[in-house]
Amino acid sequence: APNINVANVRAHLNQFQSIATANGGNRAHGRPGYLASVNWVKSKLDAAGYRTAVQSFSYGGATGYNLTAEWPVGDANNVVMVGGHLDSVTAGPGINDNGTGSASILEVALQVAATNFQPTKRIRFGWWGAEERGLIGSTYYVNQLPSADRSKIKAYLNFDMTGSPNPGYFVYSASGQPSGSAALQQRLQAGFTSFGVQTELTSVGGRSDHAAFARAGIPIGGTFTGAEGIKTSAQAQKWGGTAGQAYDRCYHRSCDTTSNVNATALDRNADVIAYALWATAV
Ligand code: PHE
Ligand code: ZN
Ligand code: ZN
Ligand code: ZN
Repeated sequence: APNINVANVRAHLNQFQSIATANGGNRAHGRPGYLASVNWVKSKLDAAGYRTAVQSFSYGGATGYNLTAEWPVGDANNVVMVGGHLDSVTAGPGINDNGTGSASILEVALQVAATNFQPTKRIRFGWWGAEERGLIGSTYYVNQLPSADRSKIKAYLNFDMTGSPNPGYFVYSASGQPSGSAALQQRLQAGFTSFGVQTELTSVGGRSDHAAFARAGIPIGGTFTGAEGIKTSAQAQKWGGTAGQAYDRCYHRSCDTTSNVNATALDRNADVIAYALWATAV
């Protein structure tokens, strides 16, 4: 797998920040900054040779959008999906939540293209709308898929908040999670181990877009650097940062800007996304 250049991921985050700033300070469902985010990500993927699709749905009196992008190589009956939500809350630009996951999977997608990756499986990326309103876009996507297409998805990897400023290194726990996959959990853990990073398992339950895939029986996994939870002193010893403070003090606030990102956590997670995708898609 390629090592992901974090400078490229940060450049994408700057784009999301600019889009928010130009559109009333957020990228929320039903606000112009959301569709501008979709259009910008789509343009990068189209230029790289992806087959993109925008799916619209209606929620709360507004139109929402999911963006998907398929790399047209490999067995279309054997699909590996990688996704994250592209919307923010209305309070702010949503750069850690979830510009980080969105920008990281975009950069991984661009590296799939740049390296002309020829996986045996089909790779499909998803940027979901209206996660912040209750996992609306990802749930719509899964529910709209014909059951024959749903059963072709062999894995779904979710990335929501991967650059928290006081980061933890959490991998979604396979146990206690409907459809939690031990294989995907172990692959993500192995990625961090290969970069010398210790991890903990976390029970994310229904808190992000993997939940819709899990309910449909699709094996899921993911990583997370923490939200409103408080870093313990044991965690600060192994990961650095500040004990007794939230992983992300700007979670769902106006201060979730490009200043609210730990570049090391962002880089390590992006590298792990590539590691896990390359391992899963062959
Ligand atoms: N989905 C939550 C949000 O967007 C963040 C979160 C992600 C929480 C993963 C727990 C686990 O606000
Ligand atoms: Zn890297
Ligand atoms: Zn959120
Ligand atoms: Zn989120």
